[in-house]
Amino acid sequence: MPAYSEIVLDHFQNPRNLGEIENADAVAEVENPVCGDRARLSLRLSGGRIAEARFLAEGCPAAIAAASMTTVLLTGMTVGEALALRDTDVAQALGGLPPNKVHCSVLAEEVIQAALAGYPAPVTAVP
Ligand code: FES
Repeated sequence: MPAYSEIVLDHFQNPRNLGEIENADAVAEVENPVCGDRARLSLRLSGGRIAEARFLAEGCPAAIAAASMTTVLLTGMTVGEALALRDTDVAQALGGLPPNKVHCSVLAEEVIQAALAGYPAPVTAVP
């Protein structure tokens, strides 16, 4: 097993916000075509912000930890902030990923983009 950070192991063993939101405002599921790992994200929005984020994932420890961390980072963000969140931000929040696992956090960025595709970022912040 690659050398994962303590944060990755923690989020893999105790995933945050696992599950699915009923009647979610935004939902998406993406698959990594190379390894077949999948992530599903459901979001509840309120006043232009992400009030709740939940995930389901099938995949390697890095993919599951990245999806878990993504829900933590997303909670409370505006749609614009969420759309600006990159896979590198998720990897950094996880204390880094082993070089051969960096692609696993890309799934997180892709699922955010897919879920919020119908919610263009506001030009100005919602008061
Ligand atoms: Fe597939 Fe990690 S090996 S996402």
